[in-house]
Amino acid sequence: MLQLRLPKNARPVTGKTHPPIAGASRTKTLKIYRFDPDSDENPRIDSYTVDLDTCGPMLLDAINQVKNEIDPSLTYRRSCREGICGSCAMNVGGKNALACTTALEDLDDEVTVYPLPHMPVVKDLVPDLSGFYEQYAAIKPWLRNDGKPVEEGERLQSHEEREKLDGLYECILCACCQTSCPSYWWNGDRYLGPAILLQAYRWLADSRDGDREARLDYLDDAYRLYRCHTILSCTSACPKGLNPGLAIAETKKMLLARKGK
Ligand code: SF4
Ligand code: SF4
Ligand code: FES
Repeated sequence: MLQLRLPKNARPVTGKTHPPIAGASRTKTLKIYRFDPDSDENPRIDSYTVDLDTCGPMLLDAINQVKNEIDPSLTYRRSCREGICGSCAMNVGGKNALACTTALEDLDDEVTVYPLPHMPVVKDLVPDLSGFYEQYAAIKPWLRNDGKPVEEGERLQSHEEREKLDGLYECILCACCQTSCPSYWWNGDRYLGPAILLQAYRWLADSRDGDREARLDYLDDAYRLYRCHTILSCTSACPKGLNPGLAIAETKKMLLARKGK
């Protein structure tokens, strides 16, 4: 039978409300999803009040304050704190975002912080991205050619050829778009999803790559590519301002052009 609701043991319950940091006058409350894989208990939403006068300006700073000063058991990913590594992607107030580029002043006084949606959760705010990385590996995200060195010593591109990679190479594989895509929610085992398809198009658009036909053969599939229904949730979710929906449309155009030959 089709199951439309989460099973009972997966539904979050109200968790602990931690006391605010002593002496805090300007505060914000984070309602953070907590899940411990080693316990039989339901996930819970814990409430933390951070001190805006003693933490940095970004949501990641506030989450760091929670971990360092209130509750060291909180688990989340982060690395660069500059919007470059993609590690700190999470769902903030119902929208996927990078915690390190989300300004606290832009958030409500009380904000929910959940892991990226529709992915298995390893612990707290850490989603299991193994399937996502397997899909990334499947598109062979590296330059493919006959392997012979070129006479000039480098594989040259014109300025125009190089410009075709703008809007693609900047992708940091944060999965904000991937986990906001309804098609990926329902068919994530077979549909590649917007992040992986943008990466696939990055190689299709590269004049130095010599394996376009094989790349297109791989993508020409009812699920891998054509489960995209052009709703564009992906594009509005990208914290880097990229347009995975356009990359997907360009890939479909390439396939159409090939069929017309
Ligand atoms: S445009 Fe395609 S990839 Fe983007 S959210 Fe819609 S179905 Fe998903
Ligand atoms: S396209 Fe944007 S949202 Fe999607 S993985 Fe790349 S950087 Fe993240
Ligand atoms: S910590 Fe690297 S993108 Fe946020």
